[in-house]
Amino acid sequence: MISSQHMSNTPITTTTGKKVLVSGIKSTGRPHIGNYFGAMKQYVEMQHEYDTRIFIADLHSLTSVQNGSELAQATLDLAIDYIAIGLDPEKVTIFKQSDLPEVTELGWIFNCITTMPYLMRAHSFKDAEAKNKEINVGVFDYPMLMAADILIHNADIVPVGKDQKQHVEFARDTAEKFNRIFRGDGKSCEPENALFKLPDVHIIESVETVPGIDGQKMSKSYNNHIPLFSTDEELKKLVMSIVTDSNGGKPMNVYNMHKLFRDETYLEKLYTKNEGKYKILKEALLEDMIAFIKPLREKREQIAKDPDKVRNILARNGALMREKTHALMYEVRKATGLIV
Ligand code: TYM
Repeated sequence: MISSQHMSNTPITTTTGKKVLVSGIKSTGRPHIGNYFGAMKQYVEMQHEYDTRIFIADLHSLTSVQNGSELAQATLDLAIDYIAIGLDPEKVTIFKQSDLPEVTELGWIFNCITTMPYLMRAHSFKDAEAKNKEINVGVFDYPMLMAADILIHNADIVPVGKDQKQHVEFARDTAEKFNRIFRGDGKSCEPENALFKLPDVHIIESVETVPGIDGQKMSKSYNNHIPLFSTDEELKKLVMSIVTDSNGGKPMNVYNMHKLFRDETYLEKLYTKNEGKYKILKEALLEDMIAFIKPLREKREQIAKDPDKVRNILARNGALMREKTHALMYEVRKATGLIV
């Protein structure tokens, strides 16, 4: 975890008096167990302690999903997933990023105080470039929209996996820069004049990078992922295809995934007893995974029976978020000269 000193006396407070937690996931397909252990589980565990605002990053998804019905379905599905993992829709504000369109306005303002060389340092951009991918402007500008997602709520804490750490640092830099330019003298800003807080990133080290079936970071784009709501048959196929070496010892790729579901004292015994018996160990992992995933999947099936209820939650919360961020956006417009 990175700590930061928060700037005091911001005019924005929450009605609950709780600190604000913000995070989101792209609706680019089914979430996987890397998303779950790296981020989603944290949302559930922290939901009561914070004023928790969890969104579906549908605008960010557009950088890669360019099929209207596919995106709409994936967005609705992710809202259902959020409720299925245990986010309480009465306590947590689950909303769609695009239902708070002011993030694009704020993102634009951030664009104007950010340089191209700065954004070229982003890992996500560098990766895309290294792979010789055709990079759309959305991909390049991604961190600024993400900074807006976080800063529009004046978030205190942002739980994410390690791959998003740099993006949260960009949000902190951007908050600082905005404060300095528009609420300070260009060089610095008195704490009492600061508009934006600097958000803390929250990363749990043991699950900061969950490995996929090939041992690399689990990611949809590497096609090494295990969808969180997989059927038993899908799980079987995926677990049995976890890459193992042939030296007959402890299959680390199996073990590292198994750690997510069982404590290590238990696992050490199991793996010592079954040294070199890859099939038995994979079957043990499969059994533990099914025991964990099946109840989640069944809960999800129930929630999915009433999609309109979920649509209503999204619509209600989108309106709520516009209302709650209105005061801050007013200050942004005033500071930047957009109000005459
Ligand atoms: P996304 O959709 O790629 O991933 C969602 C969350 O899952 C985490 N994650 C992982 N954690 C551990 N191990 C893995 N293998 C793994 N793969 C993914 C990610 O770190 C993330 O926390 N840019 C974000 C979405 C976003 C956002 C935001 C997040 C947009 N605006 C504002 C926080 C705050 C993204 O693409 O996440």
